[in-house]
Amino acid sequence: MGCNLAIAGVTGAVGQEFLGILAERDFPFNSLRMLASSRSAGKKIEFKGKTYIVEELTKNSFNRVDIALFSAGGGRSKEFGPAAVQAGAVVVDNSSAFRMDPEVPLVIPEINPQAIAQNKGIIANPNCSTIIGIVPVWPLHQANPVKRMVVSTYQAASGAGHSAMVELQEQAREILDGKEPTCEAFPYQIAFNAFSHNSPLGPNGYNQEEMKMVNETRKIFDCPEIAITCTCIRIGVLRAHCESINLEFTEAITPNQVRDLLSTAPGVSLLDDRGNNRFPMPIDASGKDDIFVGRIRQDESIPENHGINLWVAGDQLRKGAALNAVQIAEKLL
Ligand SMILES: NC(=O)c1ccc[n+]([C@@H]2O[C@H](COP(=O)([O-])OP(=O)(O)OC[C@H]3O[C@@H](n4cnc5c(N)ncnc54)[C@H](OP(=O)(O)O)[C@@H]3O)[C@@H](O)[C@H]2O)c1
Repeated sequence: MGCNLAIAGVTGAVGQEFLGILAERDFPFNSLRMLASSRSAGKKIEFKGKTYIVEELTKNSFNRVDIALFSAGGGRSKEFGPAAVQAGAVVVDNSSAFRMDPEVPLVIPEINPQAIAQNKGIIANPNCSTIIGIVPVWPLHQANPVKRMVVSTYQAASGAGHSAMVELQEQAREILDGKEPTCEAFPYQIAFNAFSHNSPLGPNGYNQEEMKMVNETRKIFDCPEIAITCTCIRIGVLRAHCESINLEFTEAITPNQVRDLLSTAPGVSLLDDRGNNRFPMPIDASGKDDIFVGRIRQDESIPENHGINLWVAGDQLRKGAALNAVQIAEKLL
């Protein structure tokens, strides 16, 4: 039995990924409404052999919709999400609008699928860097609780949407042609560059992306005491985020134990070839469902083998956004 689906933000980077993933996974649906801004209303999108017309997202868009996948930005989720719930839909929201609301489950199906049942109409998809970082950490944390995580991200341009992805490509052309790069989507040159994440800084000097990783991880793990510190960086890569993750465990742990635990972990692929110095890269993870993990080694600066270093790469448009949301929707069927 299929359901009636709506996608809010269908023309965006995540919205387009939704379509690919729904098709690949043969997600069962009876009807599909494609929603975006008034700028896109009337555009045609081909999907599974049928032509759909994009409609403007309004409060009346959700009549008889069962599941609404939202990726149109936090403002739109706040404005239209409650209207979708009132019309009877369950909203799976990709924005940060509701993630830390205690009434809203924040779900990664590999970690806390049981939280889905507590929804009151809205289920939040975590931040992309949070998902990519903690899917591989969860099976380790279950075996041997993590006391402290130190994360540094290397985030792709497409994490900031379609226009940012295009900006990276255009800047690369401009620079190679000897021209000044045009900066619109990002405050600084992204091509051939790296800069501190473009989200606003708080009074503690952390940017919002960093604090999302801290707070969301605690909520998803249901572990408010886990110590986490992050540094989030944008790099001139089109898609797939990488993260360096340093973990301090309660008990001693070896790299081989980590490899064993991760070799059967859902949503994780090991790519840890020391012999060939071959470890996860954004191009390995792009277009793939799994989070790739390598550079698994003892942190020799932490006494008594309580520390491990990891390096991960994951496609933030897929597992970091659209795939995670579709996995949640599959559990709602
Ligand atoms: N990119 C990622 O890797 C990623 C990962 C996790 C979560 N997210 C979240 O997903 C959401 C979408 O991100 P994105 O990267 O897909 O951005 P994007 O490429 O800029 O797409 C934005 C989408 O929102 C629509 N939209 C904008 N203003 C609207 C309005 N007033 N009414 C209705 N629709 C409107 C756009 O429609 P038009 O085309 O008509 O303007 C477009 O479909 C954001 O909340 C973002 O934080 C993104």
